[in-house]
Amino acid sequence: MTEKKSIHGVWLGRWTFILAATGSAVGLGNIWKFPYMAGENGGGAFVLVYLLFIAAIGIPVMLAEVMLGRRGRKSPINTMKELAKSSDASKLWGGIGWMGALSGFLILSFYSVIAGWAVAYAVKIIGGSLLDQPDIPAQFGALVSDPVSTVLWHSLFMLMVMFVVARGIHKGLETSVNILMPVLFVMLLGLLGYAATTGGLGQAFTFMFKFNPEALTAEAIRSALGHSFFTLSLGMGAIMAYGAYMPQNESLGKTVVTIGILDTLVAIVAGLVIFSIVFANGLETAAGPSLMFKTLPLAFSQMPGGVVLGGVFFILVTFAAWTSAISLAEPAVAWMVETAGFSRVKAALAIGIPVWALGLVCALSQNILSDVTILGSSVLDFLDKLTTNIMLPLGGMLIAIFTGWVMRRSHVVKELNVKNFALFNMWIIVIRFVAPAGIAYVMGYLIYEWATKG
Ligand code: TRP
Repeated sequence: MTEKKSIHGVWLGRWTFILAATGSAVGLGNIWKFPYMAGENGGGAFVLVYLLFIAAIGIPVMLAEVMLGRRGRKSPINTMKELAKSSDASKLWGGIGWMGALSGFLILSFYSVIAGWAVAYAVKIIGGSLLDQPDIPAQFGALVSDPVSTVLWHSLFMLMVMFVVARGIHKGLETSVNILMPVLFVMLLGLLGYAATTGGLGQAFTFMFKFNPEALTAEAIRSALGHSFFTLSLGMGAIMAYGAYMPQNESLGKTVVTIGILDTLVAIVAGLVIFSIVFANGLETAAGPSLMFKTLPLAFSQMPGGVVLGGVFFILVTFAAWTSAISLAEPAVAWMVETAGFSRVKAALAIGIPVWALGLVCALSQNILSDVTILGSSVLDFLDKLTTNIMLPLGGMLIAIFTGWVMRRSHVVKELNVKNFALFNMWIIVIRFVAPAGIAYVMGYLIYEWATKG
């Protein structure tokens, strides 16, 4: 049999795929969301449940996504259409691809606004115009409420993303992850080294790993499951699109386990760094979403060498968000190239411009459009809730159901090149029962909560 290849290209090897998928997974979710969620939910218990969900549901669903992607070798929309056809299933399963591309579109529009704030912080800290201000936490409000600057930073970030996407798999995605990811790891280790000197690392460690069952609320469990999807980039086809460029002979199981571990390590190290600084400076762990933008810069402003550390930190966040944002655009861009016959540049523009425009609305929803609300949330928060709480879990659930119940088992076995059937059967049980049931529970509850409390 001749090897089936994607028209977009194939990664140089398994490690390039690992870097690209880890680049997708490691993002604002790890450095911004995870630490503040752990902080708000009392630390240890939340972290433990999160680890459990990553291992028991996240990694198995990721394996399904990569397997589908490599089997189809196309953009998620066309992959799902073809795989449904080859298993004699309804064409409607192609809807997974459509909903995923739409999720990516919506997530990217608000993700870019938040990433833009991180870029602004990096530039301002290094330029010396942030940490010397008298009221550091107030600087965040000042940035976000200024329509012109928040729009400009969002536009800059979108340009960075579309520049890489337009250059294609090899010159764009591969080159950027090969440079950015190693730098990101080195910076993170450097910051961990710094954290060890603050005197707060021990406390940070205890805070994150001490099992405190009294903090284990139903709310913490639900947010841990939702977040395990967001942080692993599951449920929208990003990982499926990257899987389509995976060389045929590589083991998918080992690969997804590596990605899951790397993503988790980054989240934990980011948490240790942030909480070390928080404890060493007597700051608040439960500061919420402003932990990264208000609490940390305050600490940077008070420590010797804070400009360098703060600069490194926000460059790290920028790089992490950049490689994630690329993966949010890839499914839609690849589809345009396949279906409309567009060049990468044209496809990147066709997707990038509308995403940028919706991002404008998100950026302005924090200032001049703050009166416009949907179900009681600003446009930015609404899109975050809609995608994270509903569209991604729904996508993940449908991917699991399709893989476990609809796709011909022989196709799955062949694509995974199964040798260990005991392990395979365990995975099938997770994909057929555990993942759909767990997701349905969490998603149902979140929708209920949202509808009743607003
Ligand atoms: N995982 C990324 C983060 O943690 C965000 C992200 C990138 C994402 N691609 C995705 C989330 C696809 C869901 C689906 O920041």
